[in-house]
Formats: sequence, structure tokens, C-alpha cells
Amino acid sequence: MADNKNLQSVLTETRVFPPQPGFIEKARLNSDRLAALHAAAAADHVGFWADLAKKELGWQTPFTTALDDSQAPNYAWFTDGKLNASANCLDRHLDARGDKIAIRFEGEPGDLKNYTYRELHAEVCRTANALKSFGVGKGDRVVIYMPMVPEAVIAMQACARIGAIHSIVFGGFSSSSLKDRIEGAGAKLLITADGGHRAGHIVELKKAADEALAQGCDTIEKVLVLKRTGHDVGFDATRDVWWHEAVAAQPARCEPEWVESEHPLFLLYTSGSTGKPKGIQHSTGGYLLGATMSCQWVFDLRDDDVFWCTADVGWITGHSYVAYGPLANGATILMYEGAPTVPDAGRFWKICQEHGVTIFYTAPTAIRALMKLGDDWPKQYDLSKLRLLGSVGEPINPEAWMWFHTVIGKEKLPIVDTWWQTETGAIMIAPIPGAVPAKPGSCTKPLPGIAVEVVDEAGEILTSPDAGGYLVVTKPWPSMLRTVWGDNERYIKTYWGQFNNKYYVAGDSTHRDADGYYWILGRVDDVLNVSGHRLGTMEIESALVSHPQVAEAAVVGRPHEVKGESVFAFVICRGDRPIGAAAEKLTKELREHVGREIGALAKPDEIRFADNLPKTRSGKIMRRLLRSIAKGEEITQDISTLENPGIVAQLAGKE
Ligand code: WT7
Repeated sequence: MADNKNLQSVLTETRVFPPQPGFIEKARLNSDRLAALHAAAAADHVGFWADLAKKELGWQTPFTTALDDSQAPNYAWFTDGKLNASANCLDRHLDARGDKIAIRFEGEPGDLKNYTYRELHAEVCRTANALKSFGVGKGDRVVIYMPMVPEAVIAMQACARIGAIHSIVFGGFSSSSLKDRIEGAGAKLLITADGGHRAGHIVELKKAADEALAQGCDTIEKVLVLKRTGHDVGFDATRDVWWHEAVAAQPARCEPEWVESEHPLFLLYTSGSTGKPKGIQHSTGGYLLGATMSCQWVFDLRDDDVFWCTADVGWITGHSYVAYGPLANGATILMYEGAPTVPDAGRFWKICQEHGVTIFYTAPTAIRALMKLGDDWPKQYDLSKLRLLGSVGEPINPEAWMWFHTVIGKEKLPIVDTWWQTETGAIMIAPIPGAVPAKPGSCTKPLPGIAVEVVDEAGEILTSPDAGGYLVVTKPWPSMLRTVWGDNERYIKTYWGQFNNKYYVAGDSTHRDADGYYWILGRVDDVLNVSGHRLGTMEIESALVSHPQVAEAAVVGRPHEVKGESVFAFVICRGDRPIGAAAEKLTKELREHVGREIGALAKPDEIRFADNLPKTRSGKIMRRLLRSIAKGEEITQDISTLENPGIVAQLAGKE
């Protein structure tokens, strides 16, 4: 089990915040209704989800099979039903909500643009027709590499509309990461923009796209380019097409392609503990159901809400809670393109005020960063429309929770701490705001229809009132990943292998207290969580060793006040260990190198050069020791089994 930093602070937390009566009165779920849902799910797990799927989604062909477990752990839900995700997100609302705003957009420079459901529908249809005109159809992969602008959601919807599978690559990833993901998906089309606005700069998306395509990506036939910043970019007229030229002329109607429920809606690459990032494959029907229900249950989403999830669409949170979940519910979403501190530290709160945001969902790292900037910023703005706050991405430390509660929530608003993963598709463990009392630092209890347990090393389910171990899911759920794109063996091995295909293994360790509340402690594998971004230590190590001066590298996470974790790299060079100015120069170069190989988010915060890594006699790197060293802890572990105990002092920076 991984040693854990938050263990102490969370286990001494005893405060409880029950839902406020005013909230309960209007809530979609109070404790009675929640209890009824739990009872229904406990009585008939599959039937519970099947009933919701029938009631909450629009089907072109109704399903008769709810769950096919004949190929377990490759589960299939609602198999013989047909539907379309875009029809569910748009067409379904046209009669009742055609003139309702679907997207309120604010760019970093301050430009505004709204789309009603009718306008969004028309624009999605035009874009879908443009994609068709490029020869893109059902099952083809389309990579989207865009800034946080409405066209990113339009591109997703357009793909879904024609049954093409989108794979979004976060705009912060480098050309080389983009290339790997395009090649992994075998994409036919790339949708990008000339650039995006972020922190007062232009993110050079088209430039990175051109670099990626120059290195390979032979399956790409066309590149659709949105003009966002208007600055000069390279343009290859044989391959590139401007969005405004290709889309505007298309008809505003496009019949949805009715796909099987299991048809892949999208791929999303995420990091694991081994190898290259894997393409997590999500389905259409099951995924959409998870995104839809969790919006209703956890966010209490209603017709008059303005829902702001600050995540980029390049992450799963942006898929489920910017794009699919809220739109499937006919809600109004807010999209903001840029950084939280431009032009000043009040930007997020100003947006909340000006757009009348009612639900605000963000990450602990953002909360901590905003908290550090001081209470005066939020106090300058009218946040009275807010009615619910949410957190996702990593365990929220009680201090940040209390600040969110007091300064933003004025001690009145519920906070939903939501645990889930790229692989789970939708929120799995979170408080139901009108029913479940919150405890700062705990994501509380599983949602109805989500069967979570704690198991020990041997895979035994722990039933004690105070249990600590691996977090597993014991029953299939509709929004679960279906496979790893192109590598089903990896899917089975990674998520099911540890306990003989009996449980889905999340890769997190957890503690469950006497009230049945879950306290997520963190990853048990070599996956880092830096500012809510998931990074594999091995990926960063491979990036480092691809530099000609590096012979070997070991990367560990170190607790960080704002980012949660920061990247700490131990590097062994070819030739002499650099010291002084040479070490500084190489550090800078290696940081840039990792930025080019993966993206700026993976740049090590600290690099320490040594002559060797601490290895056992069988050649295994002692990562636990490296983690202690990175933290600056006194080394109390037994290092006598090391092949080279003398190296420890040098690694600790003492020589
Ligand atoms: C990992 C998944 C889907 C959410 C965005 C990140 C950690 C996520 C919480 C939370 C404690 C959390 C876990 C998980 N995590 N939410 N509320 N409390 N830990 O998705 O990149 O797939 O990362 O993020 O360690 O395994 P992701």
C-alpha cells in the first residue's frame, strides 16, 4: 500500500455538515427518496439501471437486454437498443427548451457568446454535415485538439451525431503527445484551432498540430481549423480547411446516426503506471446514463441552473460535466476559456456574478490556489446565486474544504466532493446534497446502483466498521469503461487482474469509517496527481531518458501545497554527474525536454542528479525510499539491503 500523506489529517477530521433545511425542501432527492433508490438498486441492480435507462434516455430502438455479462469483465449494457447521444443532448430539448440558453461562453479576452438549444442544434448539424463531406462516418476516429470554446463541444456533438468516435487531446499536451494519441486512435480527421487564449498568451495549437502531423500521423486526411485568435498560422491548403468556410455553407439539419448502445462514443487517453497512456473507451448508452443521472443526483441539476464545471473538455470531467451530462439534462452550462487569474485574481468570482452561476464545480488545486490569493477577491463579488459547490480530482484537504464552505459558500451551501475516474465515466462516490451530511475530506457514500467495497491484499471484502484497503467496484455499472482501445488484454489485466477478474480495481487506497463514509487516500500505483492532472511516473521517466545526456531516471511525487503533488525527478547522467552551473543548465534543458515530449504539465518541479539510484540486490529501484528523500524526511528505513547504501546521502542532496 502506498504511504499516505493525507491519512493523518483526514482521520482526525470529525466535523459533520448536514444538509440545510432550505436546500432539502427543494432538492430532487431527500433522504427518503435516496433510501428508496438505494433499496431499488439493492433489490435488483440491473433492473434498477434498466428502468432509469428507459425513463431518462431517448431511444430510437428500445433495448430488451439490460446487461450482457457473457464476456465478463467485458460487460455490455442495453445491447440491442439504438440511440444517438447528440439527439439526446439536443433534439430532445428543442420543443420545450429551444430558446433556452445551452451554452454561455466567455473568452479570456472577455468576448461573450451564447447559444440557445436551437442554435446549438443547428451548428452541430452543420458541423456534422461538414464532417460527412470529408468522408468521416460511423466508427471513424476524430481527434479534437481545441481551446475551451463552444466549438469544442460542437465538435464533440457533431462526431456523436454521425457515430464518429471522438478522442480529445487536452490543449496543454505537446505535439509529440498529440501525435501518439492520433496514431493510437488511427484518426482520420483532426479538429483544432489556430490557437486559444490562456493566461494572457496564445496557446499555439495549430503550430503543435502541424508539428505532430510532420512527424507521422499518416491516417489523418483533413484538418479542420477554427479561427479563434486570428494570429498567423501555417496553412496547408491541400490538407487544412477553415471551420468557418467548411461549416457555414452546410445545411442546418442532419439526421442523427442511430447507433447501438455499445457503440463507442469516445476514447480518452489517460496515464497508467506502465507503458504509454491508454485509450479509455466509453460506450454511448451506458455512459450517457451515468452522466445524466449523476447530474441529477449529485448536482441536483434543475432547469433554472447555470452550471459551471471549470474542467477543460480535454479531461473526463469536461466530457461528463461540461458536455454530455448537463446537455442531456437540458441545462445551461457556462464555459470559460482561460486562466482563473486573468486579468486579476477575481476573474472566477466575477464570472459567477455576471453569469449568475448557481452550481460551481472545480478542483481542490484551484480552490487552494484561489484561497492563497486571499478572501478579498471573492468578497468583491455577488455570489448570492450560487447554491451548490463541488470538488473533484484529488482528496480535498479539510482546510481547503472549510475555506470553500465559509468564504464561497457563506456557510450555507452544500459541497459535493465527488470521487470518480476517467474509467468510471461518471461520479461514483459523492454526497447527495439534500440527503447526506458532508464531512470535510470525505467523498461520503456510493451513489445508488454503484457497488463499492474495501478489500485487503488478498482480495477479501472488509466488513469492519473501520476498514482500510483497496477500493474496488463489485458490480458492473453502465458508465464503466468498455475496454482499452486496441488492447483488451491490458484492460483486463489493469482493472480486473489483481483479484481474478472478480472486482474492478480502481487503483486507489481508501479508508471507510464507522458511518460507512469513504476517505480516499490516493493512488496505490505509480500514478501522480499533479493539479488534478493524472501522470504516470514511467511516462516522465521515458521522456527524461530520451534526452541524450540521461542514462537513467526515477520520478516520484512530492506533496505540494497547491498542486497536491509535484514531480520530483532523480536523474543519472551519462558521464559525470553535473554540479553547480552545469546542473542548473541541464535542469532547465530537461524541464523543457519533458515539456516537449509530454506537455508543460509534466515538467519536473525539481531534478536531482546523482551517480546512481537506490537499488535492491535484484536491481529494483526503491521508490519508497526515493519518496521519503523527495519529501526531505529523515531516512528511517532499512537501507542495508541496498546494493549501494552509500548513494542515499547523495540522493538526499547532502553531498
Ligand atoms: C483519480 C482519477 C474523474 C475525476 C477527475 C480525475 C483521484 C478523483 C477524487 C476525489 C479523492 C480523487 C483518484 C482517482 N480522485 N476525484 N473526489 N477524492 N481522489 O480523473 O484523471 O481519471 O484521475 O483521481 O486518485 O483514481 P482521473
